[in-house]
Amino acid sequence: MKLWGGRFTKPTNELVDEYTASIRFDQKLAQYDIQGSLAHVTMLAKCNIIPHEDAETIKKGLKIVADKITAGEAELTEANEDIHMNVEKLLIDEIGAVGGKLHTGRSRNDQVALDMRLYLRDAIVTIVELLSNLQTSLIEQANANLETILPGYTHLQRAQPVLFAHHMMAYVSMFERDIERLKGSFPRVNRSPLGAGALAGTTFPIDRHFVAEQLNFDGIVENSLDAVSDRDFVVEFLANASLIIMHLSRLSEELVQWSSAEFKFVELDDAFCTGSSMMPQKKNPDVAELVRGKSGRVYGHLIGMLTTLKGLPIAYNKDMQEDKEGMFDTVETLKGALALFAPMISTMEVKKENMYAAVAEDFSNATDLADYLVNKELPFREAHAVVGQAVLYCIQSNKFLLDLTMEEFKQFSELIDEDIYHVLKPETVVNARDVAGGTAKGRVQEQISFANQRLNDTKEWVSTFAEKVNVWMK
Ligand code: ARG
Repeated sequence: MKLWGGRFTKPTNELVDEYTASIRFDQKLAQYDIQGSLAHVTMLAKCNIIPHEDAETIKKGLKIVADKITAGEAELTEANEDIHMNVEKLLIDEIGAVGGKLHTGRSRNDQVALDMRLYLRDAIVTIVELLSNLQTSLIEQANANLETILPGYTHLQRAQPVLFAHHMMAYVSMFERDIERLKGSFPRVNRSPLGAGALAGTTFPIDRHFVAEQLNFDGIVENSLDAVSDRDFVVEFLANASLIIMHLSRLSEELVQWSSAEFKFVELDDAFCTGSSMMPQKKNPDVAELVRGKSGRVYGHLIGMLTTLKGLPIAYNKDMQEDKEGMFDTVETLKGALALFAPMISTMEVKKENMYAAVAEDFSNATDLADYLVNKELPFREAHAVVGQAVLYCIQSNKFLLDLTMEEFKQFSELIDEDIYHVLKPETVVNARDVAGGTAKGRVQEQISFANQRLNDTKEWVSTFAEKVNVWMK
């Protein structure tokens, strides 16, 4: 019979069992579910709601069930619907009727909300750590490329030269915001809903704060209706994840472009590329492409979750079971992508000469000629027009600005002198942008040192919080 079979006169239609069961995917929550149950049963005994001996028996039983599930020896069934009832059933099989005391003062509604929060806070710590590893790889490449110049682009047209280090540090900044957002969301995830019961609280004199403390929560969800209805923390995570995968996808796109014969700016290590079944010469940046592609499923999960929740009356509705697969898939997708990206970036070969050639054979120093004239008191708008004509002349005569003779320069402006040949060199152009956040070498080094400090803060955060979320079997 079902754990809830008392008021039924017939067995459930098999298709209904199959359709409504969540065990296929929520078995991922097993260890968190049991963590929560251990804390709950400890509290039940402390509050004299059940005898201490019973609580001890239940705890031993739960640990055996946990081991069996981990070892793949437990039979998890659709007839028992979800992880919560499967664990309870396994417990009763293990220790007998006393196992039935575990669910005193608790509902699956507050239990599942608890499991989701325990799972997610653990995932957040891991993802922050993986993001910081990727930042480390990007900073490594930045340090190795403090003199590597490539064209910076707008509209994917060469615009102004920048240091490759500067380009890498732009991504470090994006991932820093991602880390901040995840850290910022943590306190909202880290609240205990347990004790809300089905929706209204419970008649037993439970101690919600004691449960929260045992599980290292920062506090409880105040309102019992909200505690069982709230999935904002899932939406928030999916939104944060969407930004992370969007950043990874933009980086992926650049890697794909840079690896092409048209750019030849980088070569990804063989270990991170794949071949073609037909064309023997191919080496494809599949990992980058796939990460770019997987942004679709992560955004989909965000919209899916928002849509599922929209219009749900409080409190629990079965619709909410749909919160799991998208969240699990998002966590797995991010973990997979980040774990690959860090070593793929570290091992990437940067083709400095090709990058430099792309800068030299171009007009990305044109702004500097205009700025040069402005420094000689020509209004910027006029300087812009003069340089526009010089560029047009170069294009028509198949030259670049640095190929012009002094006489040619003078045709455009008498203000131009010999020092222009120094001013227009890519190195000078880059280092002239010596403002906070600019691409001058010293400014990029500044960014690297700020980033390294923040990286240390993150490493500390990760070790503190990794300990906090690890309450397993305490
Ligand atoms: N499997 C359910 C879920 O994931 C657990 C909560 C079920 N509660 C209920 N009253 N049917 O949402």
